[in-house]
Amino acid sequence: MKILIINGPNLNLLGKREPEIYGSDTFEDYFAKLQFKFKDVELEYFQSNIEGELIGKIQEVGFSYDGIVLNAAAYTHTSVGIGDAIKAVETPVIEVHISNTHQREEFRHVSYISPVAKGVILGFGLQSYDLAIQSFLE
Ligand code: DQA
Repeated sequence: MKILIINGPNLNLLGKREPEIYGSDTFEDYFAKLQFKFKDVELEYFQSNIEGELIGKIQEVGFSYDGIVLNAAAYTHTSVGIGDAIKAVETPVIEVHISNTHQREEFRHVSYISPVAKGVILGFGLQSYDLAIQSFLE
């Protein structure tokens, strides 16, 4: 089972960025915990602040991997291109968010990912990623 976690813009700053919303762990530390927990899964991680790189990565793995766990961050609310990329590939995508975006500003209530994702997990902090991986193992 091969799963790629993709994080979008500003998620490279996890640990430092608005810790009251996103917590104080870095994603690298959390990813190491996920790798330890899901030893039988080939887990990979990619982060970019650039929309086209996120689309390129979805295209690159989207015909061979078993699952993509995607936190498109701010592009969630704006990117027709990422939504189209998800539609174009075969690999199922689970949309995740650390925060419950529906409890936040109105512009975060819109998602271009949700209509094309297999499912959506949000509001569980970093545990959202763990739950998404588990959903692929069921
Ligand atoms: C986020 C929510 C988005 O609205 C925001 O732009 C992010 C992070 C989350 O994980 O809670 O960067 O995707």
